[in-house]
Amino acid sequence: MNEAVNASTPDSPAHHLDLEKEIDRLRKDRNAVILAHYYQDPAIQDIADFVGDSLDLSRKAAETDADMIVFCGVRFMGEVAKILSPEKKVVIPDMQAGCSLEESISADDLRAFKAKHPDHLVVTYINSSVEVKAESDYVVTSASAIDIINATPADKPILFVPDRHLGRWLEKVTGREMTLWPGECIVHVEFTTEAIEGLKTKYPDAKIAVHPESPEPVVDMADHVGSTRSIIDYVVKTDAKRFIIGTETHILHQIRKQAPDKELIPLPGSNDTCQCATCPYMALNTMEKLYLALKDERPEIIIDEDLRRRALLPLQRMLDISARAQAKRAAREEAA
Ligand code: 13P
Ligand code: SF4
Repeated sequence: MNEAVNASTPDSPAHHLDLEKEIDRLRKDRNAVILAHYYQDPAIQDIADFVGDSLDLSRKAAETDADMIVFCGVRFMGEVAKILSPEKKVVIPDMQAGCSLEESISADDLRAFKAKHPDHLVVTYINSSVEVKAESDYVVTSASAIDIINATPADKPILFVPDRHLGRWLEKVTGREMTLWPGECIVHVEFTTEAIEGLKTKYPDAKIAVHPESPEPVVDMADHVGSTRSIIDYVVKTDAKRFIIGTETHILHQIRKQAPDKELIPLPGSNDTCQCATCPYMALNTMEKLYLALKDERPEIIIDEDLRRRALLPLQRMLDISARAQAKRAAREEAA
């Protein structure tokens, strides 16, 4: 599936173009939709047709009537778009944009894990390869995981892969014990309680919002734990002035747009070389590469049809269960 990486240098033709104008022209010309994750560079977020968390982006990819999807995120997100919309051309700016969670487990690893626990259901975080999804019973995102786990038969034990921190948080919230794969996100695992304590001493009134990929002691200190979109909604709706944000820092761009009056304090990572909490995989995407992906219609996500169909099953289960759960909540709110 790997193709050469699109690149632009100061001497390349892309460097001398008005990229925003060209991206806009090509998007119309190709009847393409640009989807972007909240961890993308602000310029990419601003030019995208839709910006969202993994669940919202999956829904958009399933329902768009565009001919081509340009997915600005990481590779597994482009794969999800292709699984859900096989008739569309799906391109991503950089085929090297992986994810440490995806890399932590292969389909062979999962088959061996299942063989050791043959009576278990497999619940797989969306941050995984199409091959791993194809070996799973349910796919979840951080926004849908609670609904999906609650919908599985209560007497069935669960293998949860590949994020052990998300898994631990889900065990606490749902009360379901699970056998966890030891994968981690290289960005969120750098958050520490010491960093939070330092910021709380300086800003005692600040509310803390973190992503559930963070380690358990960090999650335990938070006022809000949830997906990227839920963190944005929490800041917008909560009546406080200051917020400590424990997730990838590019999300601050979107929060500032939606809540310009709030003070945002990014939680620093503990990594020696960089305390910036940025995802190196997401950072591979640039406006130049987005332009080239639209122009050249590559690198393209190609998935074998049998593999795609097997991965679609657990993914579609997630979309159906989460849509039903959301509709029920909306009906309850309306009745109240
Ligand atoms: P969300 O589904 O919350 O957007 O998370 C995606 C991700 O990669 C977090 O690191
Ligand atoms: Fe993967 Fe972490 Fe980057 Fe999200 S932030 S894409 S989980 S490495």
